[in-house]
Amino acid sequence: MADKIEILPVSLLESEKTTINELKILAEELKLEFGWHYLLDLSWIIGNLDQIDGQKMIDAGAGTGVMQWYLANEGATVISIDRESRANLSPRFRRRFNVEGLREDDFQEKSKYPNNVSQSSLKMRMANFVDAVSYETKALTKSEGKRDTGIVFIYNQDLTELADISENSIDAIVAVSSLEHNSPEGLEEVIAELLRVLKPGGALLATLGAANGEDWYHEPSQGWCYSEATLRRIFDIPKDVQSNFDQYDQLFDALRDNRELKENLASFYFRSGDNGMPWGEWDPKYQPVGIVKIKAEQ
Ligand SMILES: C[S@@+](CC[C@H](N)C(=O)[O-])C[C@H]1O[C@@H](n2cnc3c(N)ncnc32)[C@H](O)[C@@H]1O
Repeated sequence: MADKIEILPVSLLESEKTTINELKILAEELKLEFGWHYLLDLSWIIGNLDQIDGQKMIDAGAGTGVMQWYLANEGATVISIDRESRANLSPRFRRRFNVEGLREDDFQEKSKYPNNVSQSSLKMRMANFVDAVSYETKALTKSEGKRDTGIVFIYNQDLTELADISENSIDAIVAVSSLEHNSPEGLEEVIAELLRVLKPGGALLATLGAANGEDWYHEPSQGWCYSEATLRRIFDIPKDVQSNFDQYDQLFDALRDNRELKENLASFYFRSGDNGMPWGEWDPKYQPVGIVKIKAEQ
């Protein structure tokens, strides 16, 4: 696997159809809706994950989004990080998945959710978190046998400060349309921290907003669109890694004309002007870009 920087083409909707259908089914079961370009983001990341060794992952800026649940279904141990609290996560996730708090305050235990594995039964302790995770995952799936899924550890924390995660301990990090909610300076701090916890040879796979020119801020979605130069600098993508930014306009025309994305906008877009597609009017202002960054071997 190698570094990549690529504007996400709408042809993914066809080439990644199997994954996309799985994602749609999972989202429907969990009553989740997709952001307007998320099927591109999710299927691109998942398509690039097949070369990852190991199952210890971070979903960076996860919210309650589909990716962490998809990965758990695949057997991964996922640390779900977001500065927004998920302590009161809905029962529909608790009942189906093995969910835990990384620390006590990250996740409110509720005995009324009978299928949720209690923290005490897992003997999860933060001191040596990473070893504990692999051990407890085995204990959970083999001895207790409640479900075959991996575990999602909720960690309500800013991505610039992951004090509870050891360096060089994580196999892969995914970030679905989350990192662009940081200024270019803030993004630098986030990436430095994510690379600290990633194992040498491990992969960071992120999707963000792409700008055709200078960095700019999209007020309605409160997200940044970054230029190719900014992304290359912050993610340290070498010059010899080819991108498709030279086809920005053609790719954007194809995106604007795509009926599948246009005609399936999530209901939340129609209820507000403070989002990526204000009041549900199809008028994309930017394109998603995918980055793969492999942490150098030390
Ligand atoms: C647009 S949502 C995407 C959520 C999720 N990835 C999904 O696929 O639905 C962006 C999320 O990233 C989180 N986020 C952005 N920057 C962050 C940071 N520096 N620290 C923690 N969370 C962050 C936000 O709190 C928000 O929940």
